[in-house]
Amino acid sequence: MSDALFPLSNEHKMIRDAARDFAKNEIAPIAAQFDESGEFPYETIKKMGEMGFMGIEVPEQYGGAGMDTLSYVLALEEICKVDASHGVIMSVNNSLYCHGIMKFGTEEQKQKFLKPVASGKAIGAYSLTEPMSGSDAGTMKSRAVRDGDFYVLNGRKSWVTSGPIADYIVVFTMTDPAKKQKGISAFLMDTKNAPGFVRGKKEPKLGIRASATSEIIFENCRVPAANRLGEEGDGFKIAMTVLDAGRIGIGSQALGIAEAAYEASVAYAREREAFGQKIGEFQGTGFKIADMKTRIEAARLLIYNAAAAKERSKATGERYTLQSSMAKLFASETAMFCAHAAVQIHGGMGYSKELPVERFFRDAKITEIYEGTSEIQRHVISRAELGLK
Ligand code: CAA
Repeated sequence: MSDALFPLSNEHKMIRDAARDFAKNEIAPIAAQFDESGEFPYETIKKMGEMGFMGIEVPEQYGGAGMDTLSYVLALEEICKVDASHGVIMSVNNSLYCHGIMKFGTEEQKQKFLKPVASGKAIGAYSLTEPMSGSDAGTMKSRAVRDGDFYVLNGRKSWVTSGPIADYIVVFTMTDPAKKQKGISAFLMDTKNAPGFVRGKKEPKLGIRASATSEIIFENCRVPAANRLGEEGDGFKIAMTVLDAGRIGIGSQALGIAEAAYEASVAYAREREAFGQKIGEFQGTGFKIADMKTRIEAARLLIYNAAAAKERSKATGERYTLQSSMAKLFASETAMFCAHAAVQIHGGMGYSKELPVERFFRDAKITEIYEGTSEIQRHVISRAELGLK
Protein backbone atom coordinates (compact mmCIF):
# COMPACT_ATOMS: atom_id res chain seq x y z
CA MET A 1 0.00 0.00 0.00
CA SER A 2 2.77 2.46 0.89
CA ASP A 3 4.41 1.72 -2.51
CA ALA A 4 1.35 3.15 -4.28
CA LEU A 5 1.13 6.27 -2.12
CA PHE A 6 4.87 6.85 -1.88
CA PRO A 7 6.47 5.41 -5.01
CA LEU A 8 10.22 4.96 -4.59
CA SER A 9 12.65 6.30 -7.20
CA ASN A 10 15.72 4.31 -8.20
CA GLU A 11 17.75 6.56 -5.90
CA HIS A 12 15.46 5.70 -2.97
CA LYS A 13 15.76 1.99 -3.71
CA MET A 14 19.53 2.31 -3.94
CA ILE A 15 19.98 3.91 -0.52
CA ARG A 16 17.43 1.55 1.07
CA ASP A 17 19.24 -1.49 -0.35
CA ALA A 18 22.67 -0.13 0.58
CA ALA A 19 21.52 0.42 4.18
CA ARG A 20 19.87 -3.03 4.25
CA ASP A 21 23.04 -4.76 3.03
CA PHE A 22 25.25 -2.79 5.39
CA ALA A 23 23.03 -3.58 8.36
CA LYS A 24 22.91 -7.27 7.48
CA ASN A 25 26.61 -7.69 6.73
CA GLU A 26 28.28 -5.28 9.15
CA ILE A 27 25.90 -4.58 12.04
CA ALA A 28 23.99 -7.84 12.53
CA PRO A 29 27.12 -9.85 13.45
CA ILE A 30 28.09 -7.42 16.26
CA ALA A 31 24.75 -6.04 17.51
CA ALA A 32 24.23 -8.48 20.38
CA GLN A 33 27.82 -8.20 21.57
CA PHE A 34 27.77 -4.37 21.65
CA ASP A 35 24.36 -4.41 23.35
CA GLU A 36 25.78 -6.68 26.04
CA SER A 37 29.00 -4.73 26.62
CA GLY A 38 27.52 -1.25 26.14
CA GLU A 39 30.57 -0.28 24.08
CA PHE A 40 30.22 2.45 21.44
CA PRO A 41 30.42 0.93 17.94
CA TYR A 42 33.08 3.32 16.55
CA GLU A 43 34.06 1.15 13.57
CA THR A 44 30.59 0.63 12.11
CA ILE A 45 29.58 4.24 12.74
CA LYS A 46 32.73 5.36 10.91
CA LYS A 47 31.80 3.15 7.97
CA MET A 48 28.24 4.54 8.02
CA GLY A 49 29.81 8.00 7.71
CA GLU A 50 31.85 6.86 4.71
CA MET A 51 28.65 5.58 3.10
CA GLY A 52 26.98 8.99 3.52
CA PHE A 53 24.48 7.83 6.17
CA MET A 54 25.44 10.43 8.78
CA GLY A 55 24.32 13.49 6.80
CA ILE A 56 21.86 12.16 4.27
CA GLU A 57 19.89 15.36 3.67
CA VAL A 58 22.84 17.73 3.93
CA PRO A 59 23.94 19.11 0.53
CA GLU A 60 27.21 17.69 -0.80
CA GLN A 61 28.92 21.10 -0.48
CA TYR A 62 28.60 20.72 3.31
CA GLY A 63 29.81 17.13 3.40
CA GLY A 64 26.43 15.38 3.16
CA ALA A 65 24.85 12.98 0.68
CA GLY A 66 22.44 15.61 -0.74
CA MET A 67 19.40 13.32 -0.70
CA ASP A 68 15.78 13.86 0.38
CA THR A 69 13.92 13.12 3.62
CA LEU A 70 12.40 9.89 2.33
CA SER A 71 15.93 8.61 1.58
CA TYR A 72 16.88 9.37 5.17
CA VAL A 73 13.82 7.59 6.54
CA LEU A 74 14.34 4.52 4.35
CA ALA A 75 17.99 4.17 5.34
CA LEU A 76 17.30 4.68 9.04
CA GLU A 77 14.46 2.15 9.01
CA GLU A 78 16.82 -0.49 7.53
CA ILE A 79 19.57 0.19 10.07
CA CYS A 80 17.05 0.01 12.94
CA LYS A 81 15.59 -3.27 11.67
CA VAL A 82 18.92 -4.72 12.71
CA ASP A 83 20.06 -2.46 15.54
CA ALA A 84 18.32 0.52 17.14
CA SER A 85 21.54 1.64 18.88
CA HIS A 86 23.26 2.37 15.58
CA GLY A 87 19.95 3.91 14.53
CA VAL A 88 19.72 6.49 17.29
CA ILE A 89 23.34 7.57 16.79
CA MET A 90 22.51 8.08 13.11
CA SER A 91 19.20 9.81 13.83
CA VAL A 92 20.60 12.33 16.33
CA ASN A 93 23.55 13.08 14.05
CA ASN A 94 21.29 13.68 11.03
CA SER A 95 18.24 15.35 12.47
CA LEU A 96 18.99 16.81 15.87
CA TYR A 97 22.44 18.07 14.95
CA CYS A 98 22.85 18.57 11.18
CA HIS A 99 19.30 19.71 10.48
CA GLY A 100 19.48 22.56 13.01
CA ILE A 101 22.70 23.94 11.55
CA MET A 102 21.40 23.57 7.99
CA LYS A 103 18.30 25.54 8.91
CA PHE A 104 19.66 28.14 11.32
CA GLY A 105 23.45 28.24 10.86
CA THR A 106 25.53 30.93 9.18
CA GLU A 107 27.79 30.00 6.27
CA GLU A 108 30.79 30.09 8.60
CA GLN A 109 29.02 27.81 11.12
CA LYS A 110 28.10 25.37 8.34
CA GLN A 111 31.71 25.16 7.21
CA LYS A 112 33.04 24.65 10.72
CA PHE A 113 30.33 22.67 12.51
CA LEU A 114 28.32 20.94 9.80
CA LYS A 115 30.89 19.64 7.32
CA PRO A 116 32.84 17.32 9.64
CA VAL A 117 29.66 15.84 11.16
CA ALA A 118 27.62 15.46 7.96
CA SER A 119 30.58 13.70 6.32
CA GLY A 120 30.79 11.28 9.25
CA LYS A 121 34.29 12.33 10.30
CA ALA A 122 32.95 13.61 13.62
CA ILE A 123 29.90 12.92 15.77
CA GLY A 124 27.25 15.49 16.65
CA ALA A 125 24.87 15.65 19.62
CA TYR A 126 21.95 17.76 20.90
CA SER A 127 21.52 18.87 24.48
CA LEU A 128 18.18 20.28 25.68
CA THR A 129 17.15 18.23 28.71
CA GLU A 130 18.27 18.90 32.28
CA PRO A 131 17.81 16.88 35.46
CA MET A 132 14.76 18.99 36.43
CA SER A 133 13.62 19.97 32.93
CA GLY A 134 12.51 17.16 30.61
CA SER A 135 9.06 17.41 29.04
CA ASP A 136 8.80 21.00 30.33
CA ALA A 137 11.81 21.99 28.27
CA GLY A 138 11.32 25.73 28.76
CA THR A 139 12.21 25.61 32.46
CA MET A 140 15.92 24.90 32.17
CA LYS A 141 18.30 26.20 34.85
CA SER A 142 21.65 26.24 33.02
CA ARG A 143 22.91 29.76 32.25
CA ALA A 144 24.99 31.51 29.62
CA VAL A 145 26.26 34.99 30.47
CA ARG A 146 27.82 37.21 27.83
CA ASP A 147 31.42 38.24 28.50
CA GLY A 148 32.82 40.26 25.60
CA ASP A 149 33.25 37.98 22.59
CA PHE A 150 32.35 34.92 24.66
CA TYR A 151 29.51 33.44 26.66
CA VAL A 152 30.26 31.77 29.97
CA LEU A 153 28.13 28.66 30.54
CA ASN A 154 27.29 27.04 33.84
CA GLY A 155 24.96 24.17 34.65
CA ARG A 156 24.20 20.55 34.04
CA LYS A 157 22.48 18.90 31.07
CA SER A 158 21.26 15.31 31.01
CA TRP A 159 20.30 12.47 28.71
CA VAL A 160 22.58 13.59 25.90
CA THR A 161 22.67 10.90 23.21
CA SER A 162 26.34 10.47 22.15
CA GLY A 163 27.26 12.81 25.06
CA PRO A 164 30.23 10.66 26.18
CA ILE A 165 31.90 10.80 22.76
CA ALA A 166 30.45 13.70 20.73
CA ASP A 167 32.91 16.03 18.99
CA TYR A 168 30.31 18.77 18.59
CA ILE A 169 27.13 19.49 20.55
CA VAL A 170 24.30 21.96 20.01
CA VAL A 171 23.46 23.14 23.52
CA PHE A 172 20.37 25.04 24.68
CA THR A 173 20.72 27.26 27.72
CA MET A 174 19.20 30.34 29.37
CA THR A 175 20.61 33.72 28.47
CA ASP A 176 17.71 35.65 30.08
CA PRO A 177 15.75 33.65 32.68
CA ALA A 178 13.19 36.45 33.17
CA LYS A 179 11.96 35.84 29.62
CA LYS A 180 11.44 32.09 30.21
CA GLN A 181 11.26 30.25 26.83
CA LYS A 182 12.08 33.47 25.00
CA GLY A 183 15.25 33.76 27.08
CA ILE A 184 16.77 30.51 25.80
CA SER A 185 19.65 30.56 23.30
CA ALA A 186 21.43 27.85 21.30
CA PHE A 187 25.20 27.38 21.10
CA LEU A 188 27.44 25.19 18.98
CA MET A 189 30.13 23.66 21.09
CA ASP A 190 33.40 22.16 19.91
CA THR A 191 33.98 19.78 22.81
CA LYS A 192 37.74 19.60 22.19
CA ASN A 193 38.08 23.37 22.48
CA ALA A 194 35.79 24.22 25.36
CA PRO A 195 37.57 24.81 28.66
CA GLY A 196 35.10 24.06 31.47
CA PHE A 197 33.20 21.45 29.44
CA VAL A 198 32.99 18.20 31.41
CA ARG A 199 31.39 14.92 30.40
CA GLY A 200 29.32 13.51 33.26
CA LYS A 201 28.32 10.00 34.19
CA LYS A 202 27.33 7.60 31.45
CA GLU A 203 23.78 6.33 31.91
CA PRO A 204 23.35 2.58 32.39
CA LYS A 205 20.32 1.90 30.20
CA LEU A 206 17.62 -0.74 29.66
CA GLY A 207 17.95 -0.63 25.87
CA ILE A 208 19.83 1.01 22.99
CA ARG A 209 22.81 0.07 25.11
CA ALA A 210 25.48 0.49 22.41
CA SER A 211 24.55 4.14 22.05
CA ALA A 212 26.29 6.23 24.69
CA THR A 213 24.22 8.63 26.81
CA SER A 214 25.48 10.97 29.51
CA GLU A 215 25.21 14.19 31.41
CA ILE A 216 27.33 17.12 30.34
CA ILE A 217 28.42 19.78 32.79
CA PHE A 218 29.55 23.38 32.25
CA GLU A 219 31.93 24.88 34.79
CA ASN A 220 32.54 28.45 33.63
CA CYS A 221 32.73 27.01 30.14
CA ARG A 222 33.68 29.67 27.57
CA VAL A 223 32.02 29.53 24.18
CA PRO A 224 32.74 32.12 21.46
CA ALA A 225 29.78 34.40 20.76
CA ALA A 226 30.29 33.52 17.08
CA ASN A 227 29.10 29.99 17.94
CA ARG A 228 25.61 31.14 18.92
CA LEU A 229 23.05 29.53 16.61
CA GLY A 230 20.41 32.10 15.71
CA GLU A 231 19.77 35.20 17.79
CA GLU A 232 19.71 35.43 21.57
CA GLY A 233 16.29 34.17 22.67
CA ASP A 234 15.72 32.03 19.55
CA GLY A 235 16.83 28.86 21.32
CA PHE A 236 13.44 27.40 22.28
CA LYS A 237 12.00 27.74 18.78
CA ILE A 238 15.17 26.27 17.30
CA ALA A 239 14.97 23.34 19.74
CA MET A 240 11.31 22.68 18.87
CA THR A 241 11.84 23.05 15.12
CA VAL A 242 14.72 20.60 15.27
CA LEU A 243 12.63 18.16 17.32
CA ASP A 244 9.99 18.18 14.57
CA ALA A 245 12.68 16.70 12.32
CA GLY A 246 14.06 14.48 15.07
CA ARG A 247 10.69 12.89 15.74
CA ILE A 248 10.53 11.66 12.14
CA GLY A 249 13.89 9.97 12.77
CA ILE A 250 12.72 8.33 16.00
CA GLY A 251 9.50 7.29 14.26
CA SER A 252 11.61 5.59 11.58
CA GLN A 253 13.67 3.93 14.27
CA ALA A 254 10.47 2.63 15.87
CA LEU A 255 9.21 1.41 12.50
CA GLY A 256 12.44 -0.52 11.99
CA ILE A 257 12.19 -2.16 15.42
CA ALA A 258 8.51 -3.06 14.79
CA GLU A 259 9.36 -4.67 11.46
CA ALA A 260 12.22 -6.65 12.97
CA ALA A 261 9.93 -7.96 15.71
CA TYR A 262 7.27 -8.80 13.14
CA GLU A 263 9.59 -10.64 10.75
CA ALA A 264 11.06 -12.70 13.60
CA SER A 265 7.53 -13.57 14.75
CA VAL A 266 6.32 -14.67 11.32
CA ALA A 267 9.37 -16.91 10.86
CA TYR A 268 8.93 -18.43 14.32
CA ALA A 269 5.16 -18.92 13.96
CA ARG A 270 5.77 -20.82 10.70
CA GLU A 271 8.35 -23.13 12.28
CA ARG A 272 7.47 -23.73 15.91
CA GLU A 273 5.01 -26.49 16.66
CA ALA A 274 2.75 -27.07 19.65
CA PHE A 275 -0.16 -29.46 20.15
CA GLY A 276 0.64 -31.05 16.80
CA GLN A 277 0.53 -27.94 14.61
CA LYS A 278 2.48 -24.82 13.73
CA ILE A 279 1.79 -22.13 16.30
CA GLY A 280 0.85 -19.74 13.46
CA GLU A 281 -2.19 -21.91 12.87
CA PHE A 282 -3.57 -20.95 16.28
CA GLN A 283 -5.83 -17.95 15.98
CA GLY A 284 -4.22 -16.45 19.08
CA THR A 285 -0.94 -16.21 17.16
CA GLY A 286 -2.45 -15.40 13.76
CA PHE A 287 -4.42 -12.44 15.10
CA LYS A 288 -1.27 -11.02 16.71
CA ILE A 289 0.48 -11.26 13.35
CA ALA A 290 -2.47 -9.52 11.66
CA ASP A 291 -2.49 -6.67 14.18
CA MET A 292 1.29 -6.24 13.96
CA LYS A 293 1.20 -6.09 10.16
CA THR A 294 -1.70 -3.63 10.07
CA ARG A 295 -0.13 -1.29 12.60
CA ILE A 296 3.25 -1.42 10.84
CA GLU A 297 1.66 -0.47 7.53
CA ALA A 298 -0.22 2.43 9.17
CA ALA A 299 2.95 3.59 10.94
CA ARG A 300 4.87 3.47 7.66
CA LEU A 301 2.25 5.66 5.96
CA LEU A 302 2.40 8.21 8.77
CA ILE A 303 6.21 8.28 8.71
CA TYR A 304 6.42 8.64 4.92
CA ASN A 305 3.71 11.30 5.09
CA ALA A 306 5.72 13.24 7.68
CA ALA A 307 8.84 12.82 5.51
CA ALA A 308 6.94 14.25 2.53
CA ALA A 309 5.74 17.19 4.67
CA LYS A 310 9.31 17.86 5.79
CA GLU A 311 10.50 17.74 2.19
CA ARG A 312 7.83 20.28 1.16
CA SER A 313 8.81 22.47 4.07
CA LYS A 314 12.30 22.92 2.56
CA ALA A 315 10.66 25.05 -0.16
CA THR A 316 7.72 26.56 1.73
CA GLY A 317 9.06 26.87 5.29
CA GLU A 318 5.74 25.43 6.53
CA ARG A 319 5.78 23.65 9.87
CA TYR A 320 5.17 19.90 9.91
CA THR A 321 4.83 19.58 13.70
CA LEU A 322 1.54 17.68 13.57
CA GLN A 323 2.61 15.16 10.93
CA SER A 324 5.83 14.53 12.80
CA SER A 325 4.19 14.13 16.24
CA MET A 326 1.48 11.79 14.91
CA ALA A 327 4.07 9.68 13.10
CA LYS A 328 6.33 9.41 16.13
CA LEU A 329 3.43 8.68 18.50
CA PHE A 330 1.94 5.94 16.37
CA ALA A 331 5.21 4.35 15.26
CA SER A 332 6.66 4.20 18.78
CA GLU A 333 3.51 2.60 20.19
CA THR A 334 3.57 0.20 17.25
CA ALA A 335 7.17 -0.72 18.07
CA MET A 336 6.20 -1.48 21.67
CA PHE A 337 3.10 -3.41 20.60
CA CYS A 338 5.05 -5.51 18.08
CA ALA A 339 7.99 -6.15 20.39
CA HIS A 340 5.61 -7.20 23.17
CA ALA A 341 3.73 -9.55 20.83
CA ALA A 342 6.99 -10.94 19.46
CA VAL A 343 8.22 -11.92 22.93
CA GLN A 344 4.87 -13.57 23.63
CA ILE A 345 4.88 -15.51 20.36
CA HIS A 346 8.44 -16.71 21.02
CA GLY A 347 7.55 -17.75 24.57
CA GLY A 348 10.66 -18.68 26.57
CA MET A 349 12.87 -18.05 23.56
CA GLY A 350 11.55 -14.49 23.42
CA TYR A 351 12.91 -13.99 26.92
CA SER A 352 16.31 -15.43 26.08
CA LYS A 353 19.39 -13.52 24.98
CA GLU A 354 19.99 -16.25 22.41
CA LEU A 355 17.57 -14.43 20.09
CA PRO A 356 17.40 -10.68 19.34
CA VAL A 357 13.69 -10.48 20.22
CA GLU A 358 14.34 -9.51 23.85
CA ARG A 359 16.65 -6.72 22.57
CA PHE A 360 13.87 -5.41 20.30
CA PHE A 361 11.60 -5.35 23.37
CA ARG A 362 14.12 -3.38 25.45
CA ASP A 363 15.00 -1.04 22.56
CA ALA A 364 11.36 -0.34 21.62
CA LYS A 365 10.53 1.27 24.99
CA ILE A 366 12.75 4.32 24.58
CA THR A 367 10.96 5.37 21.39
CA GLU A 368 7.91 6.17 23.55
CA ILE A 369 10.06 8.36 25.80
CA TYR A 370 12.83 10.32 24.10
CA GLU A 371 12.40 13.29 21.76
CA GLY A 372 9.05 13.88 23.46
CA THR A 373 7.10 11.21 25.36
CA SER A 374 3.87 9.80 23.93
CA GLU A 375 2.06 12.09 26.39
CA ILE A 376 3.86 15.13 24.94
CA GLN A 377 2.98 14.04 21.38
CA ARG A 378 -0.69 13.71 22.40
CA HIS A 379 -0.45 17.14 24.07
CA VAL A 380 1.00 18.68 20.86
CA ILE A 381 -1.62 17.03 18.62
CA SER A 382 -4.66 17.69 20.82
CA ARG A 383 -3.70 21.30 21.52
CA ALA A 384 -3.40 21.99 17.80
CA GLU A 385 -6.68 20.22 16.98
CA LEU A 386 -8.59 21.98 19.76
CA GLY A 387 -7.16 25.31 18.72
CA LEU A 388 -5.62 25.81 22.17
CA LYS A 389 -2.33 27.06 20.69
N1 CAA B 1 8.20 24.67 15.90
C1 CAA B 1 8.38 26.02 15.99
N2 CAA B 1 7.99 26.72 17.07
C2 CAA B 1 7.42 26.07 18.08
C3 CAA B 1 7.19 24.68 18.05
C4 CAA B 1 7.61 23.98 16.89
N3 CAA B 1 7.43 22.65 16.80
N4 CAA B 1 6.59 24.31 19.19
C5 CAA B 1 6.43 25.41 19.93
N5 CAA B 1 6.92 26.49 19.25
C6 CAA B 1 6.90 27.89 19.66
C7 CAA B 1 5.48 28.33 19.92
O1 CAA B 1 4.88 28.78 18.72
C8 CAA B 1 5.67 29.46 20.92
O2 CAA B 1 6.05 30.61 20.23
P1 CAA B 1 5.32 32.04 20.56
O3 CAA B 1 5.53 32.25 22.04
O4 CAA B 1 6.02 33.02 19.70
O5 CAA B 1 3.87 31.83 20.24
C9 CAA B 1 6.89 28.99 21.73
O6 CAA B 1 7.58 28.04 20.93
C10 CAA B 1 6.50 28.34 23.05
O7 CAA B 1 5.63 27.27 22.73
P2 CAA B 1 4.65 26.63 23.77
O8 CAA B 1 3.93 27.71 24.52
O9 CAA B 1 3.85 25.61 23.05
O10 CAA B 1 5.64 25.95 24.81
P3 CAA B 1 5.34 24.99 26.01
O11 CAA B 1 6.16 25.40 27.17
O12 CAA B 1 3.87 24.84 26.20
O13 CAA B 1 6.02 23.61 25.52
C11 CAA B 1 6.02 21.44 24.50
C12 CAA B 1 5.58 22.92 24.44
C13 CAA B 1 5.42 20.85 23.25
C14 CAA B 1 5.49 20.73 25.73
C15 CAA B 1 7.57 21.38 24.47
O14 CAA B 1 8.14 21.84 25.66
C16 CAA B 1 8.07 19.99 24.18
O15 CAA B 1 8.09 19.53 23.03
N6 CAA B 1 8.54 19.25 25.23
C17 CAA B 1 9.21 17.97 25.04
C18 CAA B 1 10.69 18.18 24.93
C19 CAA B 1 11.40 17.02 24.32
O16 CAA B 1 10.96 16.45 23.32
N7 CAA B 1 12.54 16.67 24.91
C20 CAA B 1 13.37 15.63 24.39
C21 CAA B 1 14.78 16.16 24.27
S1 CAA B 1 15.90 15.40 23.18
C22 CAA B 1 16.17 13.83 23.73
O17 CAA B 1 15.24 13.14 23.93
C23 CAA B 1 17.54 13.33 23.97
C24 CAA B 1 18.24 12.81 22.79
O18 CAA B 1 19.43 13.07 22.63
C25 CAA B 1 17.57 11.89 21.81
